[in-house]
Amino acid sequence: MQDTSFAIHPGTKKQLVGENYKEIGGFKSYSINNNIVSFITENGYVNITLYNTNTIRITMNPYREPIVKQSFAVIAETVEIVTNVSENDDEITIQTDEFLVKVKKIPFRVSVFDKHGMAIVEEQTKGMAFNEAGELICYKKMEANDHFYGFGEKTGFLDKRGEKMVMWNTDVYAPHNPETDALYQSIPFFLTLREGTAHGIFFDNTGRTQFDLRSEVDSYSFKAESGQLDYYIFVGPTLKEVLGQYTTLTGTMPIPPKWALGYHQSRYSYETEEEVRALANHFLEKKIPLDAIYLDIHYMNGYRVFTFDHDRFPTPKALIEDLKKAGIKTVPIVDPGVKEDPEYPIYQEGVRNDQFCKYIEGNIYYGDVWPGNSAFPDFTSTKVRKWWGEKHKYYTDLGIEGIWNDMNEPAIFNETKTMDVKVIHENDGDPKTHRELHNLYGFFMGESTYEGMKQLLHGKRPFLLTRAGYAGVQRYASVWTGDNRSFWEHLQLALPMCMNLGMSGVAFCGPDVGGFAHDTNGELLIRWTQFGTFTPYFRNHSAINTLRQEPWSFGEDVEGLVKKYIEQRYVWLPHLYTLFRQASQTGVPVMRPLVLEYPTDENTFNLSDQFMIGDNVIVAPIMTPTTNHRVVYLPEGNWVNYWTEEMLIGNKHHLVEAPIDILPIFIKEGTIIPHGTIKQSTAIPEDEITYHIYLGDKTEASYRLYEDDGTTFRYESGDTFEQEVTCEKDGKTISISVKESNGTYDPTWSKETFVLHHCEGDLEVMVNGEEIPKSNMVFDETTKTLKISTQR
Ligand code: GLC
Repeated sequence: MQDTSFAIHPGTKKQLVGENYKEIGGFKSYSINNNIVSFITENGYVNITLYNTNTIRITMNPYREPIVKQSFAVIAETVEIVTNVSENDDEITIQTDEFLVKVKKIPFRVSVFDKHGMAIVEEQTKGMAFNEAGELICYKKMEANDHFYGFGEKTGFLDKRGEKMVMWNTDVYAPHNPETDALYQSIPFFLTLREGTAHGIFFDNTGRTQFDLRSEVDSYSFKAESGQLDYYIFVGPTLKEVLGQYTTLTGTMPIPPKWALGYHQSRYSYETEEEVRALANHFLEKKIPLDAIYLDIHYMNGYRVFTFDHDRFPTPKALIEDLKKAGIKTVPIVDPGVKEDPEYPIYQEGVRNDQFCKYIEGNIYYGDVWPGNSAFPDFTSTKVRKWWGEKHKYYTDLGIEGIWNDMNEPAIFNETKTMDVKVIHENDGDPKTHRELHNLYGFFMGESTYEGMKQLLHGKRPFLLTRAGYAGVQRYASVWTGDNRSFWEHLQLALPMCMNLGMSGVAFCGPDVGGFAHDTNGELLIRWTQFGTFTPYFRNHSAINTLRQEPWSFGEDVEGLVKKYIEQRYVWLPHLYTLFRQASQTGVPVMRPLVLEYPTDENTFNLSDQFMIGDNVIVAPIMTPTTNHRVVYLPEGNWVNYWTEEMLIGNKHHLVEAPIDILPIFIKEGTIIPHGTIKQSTAIPEDEITYHIYLGDKTEASYRLYEDDGTTFRYESGDTFEQEVTCEKDGKTISISVKESNGTYDPTWSKETFVLHHCEGDLEVMVNGEEIPKSNMVFDETTKTLKISTQR
């Protein structure tokens, strides 16, 4: 066709995606409207919103005044703050008490400084730009010593410097390797650590975005395929404060029901009621703790959501009730795809009430998923979310309190792995294409499910697990990291992945323990379960046609060790629950990279194979086969080996013995850790709390334990219990004080035990001013621990 007009077809013009960026050009004018300073430049419009005392929002639109409406990720309203705007020939300066924004006029560059004038985020050679393909990009200066954390669910190591990452929720069955960066979740938020201080950026764009921390030596960029540039800068100045600022904007996790923190067992699939009952009985007979069993897609009638297959599951209500009596909750999977079947009520309702995603021309979008040809609820519409949420009455009527959302990227079995990007979402009267809203689909499904369940459970806390999500997903769901494999490499991968999810607001996360696809083996299952003891979310799940991986699948020895670490989960639960409460208040995660606690220690900057639980416990799993030792880095201070009581000095790497029964754990001196008791499930009330006191060379330690009923939202109105335990040493006298405060909740335990580590047997112990008689104390000469029993 080269001899027709096709030769000059506009499509032969150079492809613009990823190139030919045009800067927004020099400054033309500015105006102030409350807390928004608006700029007009030669080629665009920029708004700088002083969002609150520590957050600045920057929006850029090349074509019109920036759109002020935010995505659903953002829940915090902007707060009026005192500002002082001044102008000279070169720049406009916006000064507040906490930060300073300087806008250079030509070329137009926006930079943010802290109140002392130290640069936080700077634009230098390149600033904000766009191209004719509708892409928008923004460059920021990168210092030689900048380290990057967050970015949600990503493969690779902890520090993301040198990475290039795409955000586009994707069902990746395989592979999960260093170059697979678009996974199920998209959380376009990161923290930069620079010389011990930190700031953060949240790039609120729900279409495909890309972060490039690789291509240029002294700058990084983030870009979007559609929409406008819309990002928030959090001024820190600590990593924890940035997490607080980000989760103030996007929300924190509500405290989960306690049963959600227990051990969970899953399989794709437990296919019949009989099999599920036998499974539960196995756990009970073997006295292996268990809080939940999952029902994967086989429970449904032809994979129709909101149904049971009555041949396989003849009496679901009785099953769920019986399991509940045994302390086990049932969590069914619910995918978004609704089978195209004119005789299926959910499909009928969806079509009749116009609830499904459609093309602009009005025809429903269909995609192939487990049930075959399926329609997809348009969760961007409040009306649809309400409808879907209410449908969960089907499950709550059966006694179900937890739901597992899967395939909600949405995953579709086609080349692109997802919905046609041309589909139009209703978006509450502001229609947008799937291309623009893709990353929100799972998030919205989560909102719909969680809020629906919350209504239906009348005051009980729902549990929701989701595969896909966007920034703010923590408000509704916990996240598991999708279809990993039973590879040692995937165990290794799970540490930085979960630590960075935690650094992205998602405190409640974890991988499939044992690995999902591929066959696991006994050794891997033990090592993975050891790690799982301390992942915020703890579920063993495996795929169809793989070797079974329930705790007893590899013989008695393996079972014994897997059981031991599942039991440890319950022992550590009072501490974990206290940390979950903290995360729900502050956004600081339960499972933490060491850098969060030791941000000036360069050994922690990219430490990807060990982590912390709270601020004083280090966990260093074994993640290679036939390995009985590993190197552990301990930061400043002295640390006690949890199993051997050996005291190790910090600021040093240690070679630590870790035979198959040992998960290396280290407690910092000057720490108190509460322990609960081993129990079949969290349904059994705690009857004893033991405070392990590791004073080491310190003379004082304290701990503030949190407890509530573990099941309702009454904690929100003060039905809580907090106990502050302080231990002081003065020569041969140990004084323990126990103060209860804050709230009306009366805990279930009556026994309180204190175990002093690293001590001699000739101590005098006072509890709340009263001397403890020797008859209430037991000294163990070999471990050098003194056990003191008291009643609450
Ligand atoms: C997806 C999920 C997996 C589930 C399977 C069948 O692959 O990621 O967890 O078991 O679908 O529902």
